[in-house]
Amino acid sequence: MSIKYPFSELEHDIRSVLAVNQDYSAIVDQIRPFLEKLLQTENLVPASYLKPQADKYAQYLLYKPEDEAFSVIAFVWGAGQKAPVHDHLIWGLVGVYTGELVETRYRRIDNGLAAAQQFILEIAKTIQVVKGDISFVYPPKYDIHGVSNLSDDTAITIHIYGADIGKKPRHIHDPLTGSLRDVVTKHDNAEAIYLS
Ligand SMILES: [Fe+2]
Repeated sequence: MSIKYPFSELEHDIRSVLAVNQDYSAIVDQIRPFLEKLLQTENLVPASYLKPQADKYAQYLLYKPEDEAFSVIAFVWGAGQKAPVHDHLIWGLVGVYTGELVETRYRRIDNGLAAAQQFILEIAKTIQVVKGDISFVYPPKYDIHGVSNLSDDTAITIHIYGADIGKKPRHIHDPLTGSLRDVVTKHDNAEAIYLS
């Protein structure tokens, strides 16, 4: 497959940002144009990965460098599939490749004063995102959201995170009770689709 923006070039671009920035806000701002470019790549996700899974959204690792300084993931969302409210604990960008989704972003309103395993959350905003839109996450302020495909069609999103998100311990939140539980969301493929 020919790819106009090879992952070797994306890696070079991302590393040039990470080399001079620690601030998550600056990192997501500067990596955003790279994701914009990646979203314009035709056939980025091979055809054999495009069919949604029956039970939940699919999470396919596209690429990560050996040191796992970042990862690029494709999510395939069947009609009606959703990700429960969750955090990331690292910077990340989410771009819509095809279709549309609803993202509900939460803010913590207990200022960390609630019991250790309680996060009192309120909805900060709910947005509909469509092909080409890019949103971001990073702790502590912009890290918790839920994502749903409320449409009748499959949606595909491309994510870039500052770690291998398929290995990272993080949390699923219940906004109704304030409780949270530990989770690691493993990739649905054993090996990256594009090798480093
Ligand atoms: Fe997320």
